[in-house]
Amino acid sequence: MLDVAYRYGVRPLLFSLDPEAAHHLAIATCHRISESSTLQSIAKSTFYYSDSRLSQTLWNLKFENPVGLAAGFDKNAEAIGAWEHLGFGFAEVGTITSKAQSGNPQPRLFRLPSDRAVLNRMGFNNRGAAATAIDLQNYLSNHKLNIPLGINLGKSKVTEISDAKFDYAESLRSLYDFGDYFVVNVSSPNTPNLRDLQATAQLGAILAELNPINTANKPILVKIAPDLNDADIIEIVKTSQAFGVAGIIATNTTISRQNLTTSYLSITGKSVTEEAGGISGQPVRDRSLQVISLIWQTTQGSLPIIGVGGIFTAEDAWQKITAGAAIVQVYTGLIYEGPMIVKQILKGLITKLETHGLDNIQQAIGLAHR
Ligand SMILES: Cc1cc2nc3c(=O)[nH]c(=O)nc-3n(C[C@H](O)[C@H](O)[C@H](O)COP(=O)(O)O)c2cc1C
Repeated sequence: MLDVAYRYGVRPLLFSLDPEAAHHLAIATCHRISESSTLQSIAKSTFYYSDSRLSQTLWNLKFENPVGLAAGFDKNAEAIGAWEHLGFGFAEVGTITSKAQSGNPQPRLFRLPSDRAVLNRMGFNNRGAAATAIDLQNYLSNHKLNIPLGINLGKSKVTEISDAKFDYAESLRSLYDFGDYFVVNVSSPNTPNLRDLQATAQLGAILAELNPINTANKPILVKIAPDLNDADIIEIVKTSQAFGVAGIIATNTTISRQNLTTSYLSITGKSVTEEAGGISGQPVRDRSLQVISLIWQTTQGSLPIIGVGGIFTAEDAWQKITAGAAIVQVYTGLIYEGPMIVKQILKGLITKLETHGLDNIQQAIGLAHR
């Protein structure tokens, strides 16, 4: 019922707005939920779903369910108290950079409805680590979160690529007390040369710089691009393991423009192949799945994976989990399906467990390989 209301009521309204304006509206609404216990109760009674078969402990953190909010939606950690009431099992804020930055010129966010996709070249617009740390401190001194909070870190645009490790380190220092896990994002296509940091030497240097700051041994993960070849992915996995990384997030958006039905963007009048940015949603789903499988096979399931990319349904989430993801995240699916997506996926995962005669979600992780 609510999904129908979203599809035929709310979504057309949101889609009639400029995509970034619609996003601001969504974040403003979630910020209100984050601040109001009344709205939290209403949200919870509508969107929350719980079943102990979906819960698991990972990195000593309790994940009540495996569906999280992907990075980029709550870039400035403005709505952290809302996500658990919308049913998410965890939420990742950011990307946050050490310096505040406004991101790329607008327009920089585009919907591709016929592809169930989004193209973005936001460029890490955010308030910077220090300002975000103050806000997090203020919020968390008055509120308790009941789901793990991840903090995704990126390099400030003005920082030279050779100094990237210092930029990540400064952010980690500022934000260290507030995150349950941290993500080294070296895979956004929208900061020049950022993805070069996925190379062994650069990634190793960043991780070596972060490890001494990580005095409480919090999980640090690496988020990778879907556009790497398999050999490079295996290298990243090995480097990550050598530096004690807790897991891999697979994947970020793709720079590929293959198999899109959208040919040009009406807002700019340009061909989609000429527009810079990363594509998310359905077009990235299959490659993300392959990357997850490859990581699982390379590590024989010993390195936890957060699977993200093109999840719209329980079937999509199930494929990611059985390919090897311990937990998953959604972003574009939330735009197209609305906030009911979490409950729909969770209910569908329970059906999947029952169909396969499994007792809990952990038994499904990597099932496709057994
Ligand atoms: C508008 C937009 C902004 C994003 N910003 C970030 C970001 O700041 N940091 C990051 O790691 N990923 C970012 N992402 C990537 C998502 O976290 C996710 O990896 C990707 O979109 C694939 O998942 P999806 O198909 O469910 O959207 C962004 C995605 C979108 C659509």
